[in-house]
Amino acid sequence: MWKLWLATLVGAAHASQTVLRPDPLESNFTTFRSTNSPHSVRIRQQNESICAAGSAQYTGWLDIGPKHLFFWYFESQNDPIADPLTLWMNGGPGGSSMMGLFEENGPCLINEYGNGTVHNPWGWSRNSSLLFVDQPADVGWSYIDEGYEVARDSKEAAIDMRSFLQIFVSEIFPHKRDSPFHLSGESYAGKYIPYLGAEIITHNQQYPLEPQINLKSCLIGNGYMSPKDTAFGYWETLCTTNPGVSTPVFNQTRCDIIATNMPRCMEVYDTCTKSLDTAICTAASSVCYKGIISWYEEESKAGGRNRFDITAPCYLDDVCYKEAGYIEQYLNSPVVREALSPPEGAKEYKMESITVVDAFATTSEVMTSSSDLIIFLLAHGVHFLAYQGNLDLACNTAGNIRWANSLAWKGQTEFASKPMLPWTSNVAGRNETVGTAKEVRVQLEGQPETSRFAFVTVNAAGHLLPQDRGDVAFDILSRWLAGDSFV
Ligand SMILES: *[C@@H]1O[C@H](CO)[C@@H](O)[C@H](O)[C@H]1NC(C)=O
Ligand SMILES: *[C@@H]1O[C@H](CO)[C@@H](O)[C@H](O)[C@H]1NC(C)=O
Ligand SMILES: *[C@@H]1O[C@H](CO)[C@@H](O)[C@H](O)[C@H]1NC(C)=O
Ligand SMILES: *[C@@H]1O[C@H](CO)[C@@H](O)[C@H](O)[C@H]1NC(C)=O
Ligand SMILES: *[C@@H]1O[C@H](CO)[C@@H](O)[C@H](O)[C@H]1NC(C)=O
Ligand SMILES: *[C@@H]1O[C@H](CO)[C@@H](O)[C@H](O)[C@H]1NC(C)=O
Repeated sequence: MWKLWLATLVGAAHASQTVLRPDPLESNFTTFRSTNSPHSVRIRQQNESICAAGSAQYTGWLDIGPKHLFFWYFESQNDPIADPLTLWMNGGPGGSSMMGLFEENGPCLINEYGNGTVHNPWGWSRNSSLLFVDQPADVGWSYIDEGYEVARDSKEAAIDMRSFLQIFVSEIFPHKRDSPFHLSGESYAGKYIPYLGAEIITHNQQYPLEPQINLKSCLIGNGYMSPKDTAFGYWETLCTTNPGVSTPVFNQTRCDIIATNMPRCMEVYDTCTKSLDTAICTAASSVCYKGIISWYEEESKAGGRNRFDITAPCYLDDVCYKEAGYIEQYLNSPVVREALSPPEGAKEYKMESITVVDAFATTSEVMTSSSDLIIFLLAHGVHFLAYQGNLDLACNTAGNIRWANSLAWKGQTEFASKPMLPWTSNVAGRNETVGTAKEVRVQLEGQPETSRFAFVTVNAAGHLLPQDRGDVAFDILSRWLAGDSFV
């Protein structure tokens, strides 16, 4: 999301969609043609040689007219039939989900040479089937036919993703059709996921005779649900020891500047939210960038500060982590290309799509919150978990706690009244108090079960919690899927 602070406005015209047939030359793929929609999927099984997964894995592209979404799917290492199905999406916007797969919670992680993988004992496919998708089209290994415009907001992206998921569970892996389904992701997925969840629920209701997606919960790590609260959290993250640092990152001079600029930033956020006018929201974005964000952001680059972990070095511009470079190198290597067999339109793998960043910068979405959609999901019995690595600045804990406490739903009063309490993770046979948590379970009208809303933090970890604490992230997922409490 950081790119959007700087992105320039780019006009975007939308071409109408036409349906493309899969290339008949790609006969080494199995092609599924949807019976419910004019879509098709090219899929092939992979083996351990390119990803040490420990279970069956498949890669391929879903063709939605001119858009071609790349996916990598892992069956559960435990019970592929009975275990749930979890989708993972990285953020950005424009960020590839291969970052999650190869650097965070996938069953195989990139090695230190960028020429192979090692098995990840904390991969999220241990007790759930796990699906990674590069989206919207143009991100990562996904691509879009020439002359077509990429998605400009999460709502547009969600329409394609919902179609994808419906075909996936009903036609490609029909044994997963009734599995509990969970949407997980990180960072800008704090927007993607609520929009996708709402699209799924709405479509299920509108078309009850179509195959339904059995959405049970959303779980978002260091999410960008509320840009306003995230900006507010900058001061606490940089000017106090609350994130778990011995001295604040910024000195009094800088902290005073940020504190002075904060009320104006909050005010322009509200003006943007009321109008949703792109020009007003862009102006608001620039006020908050100059007054608050820029003081750290301008020093975030290779050799400088790391916006994803206020205590960590930054090795690469944008993503900071060396692994990101290794992943790009690996996914473009001849051996992986050969195995994936990218169609002609998929030219090369990129960790980030600048085209998507620029397209999202043309709407007000980046300045608005996804709160209303999350309230809608809770009202429809979809549970919601926000988990946080406390050293992150980009989507900081201080801002997200403020957001969670202010979410205006029936559970708010109880949730806001509760203190964050220490929680103990049971990892690798030992107990470790790793952070704080609170949650509520609320009976909402018309719902057979209570809706669960939880907030969990982890100390000494940043934006990429599953990279920093794979064991704890796996424990969070396991408890969440099992319905177990954190405190
Ligand atoms: C798959 O098919 C494509 C197109 O025919 C070919 O270029 C590629 O080498 C094939 N890959 C494998 C692994 O057979
Ligand atoms: C998770 O999977 C492991 C095997 O990979 C299995 O021993 C364990 O019982 C599973 N846990 C749950 C909760 O299903
Ligand atoms: C990866 O690179 C290392 C160091 O250069 C080398 O020892 C290893 O054999 C390479 N592995 C593969 C699969 O090429
Ligand atoms: C505060 O920090 C900034 C940036 O590191 C530095 O330029 C400035 O000199 C510092 N001010 C004081 C009073 O130490
Ligand atoms: C694994 O897949 C690669 C590429 O598709 C292929 O060359 C290799 O023979 C396969 N290995 C096994 C053991 O099936
Ligand atoms: C960890 O805590 C649980 C729950 O309190 C307890 O049942 C278990 O014995 C503890 N394990 C260890 C290794 O201390």
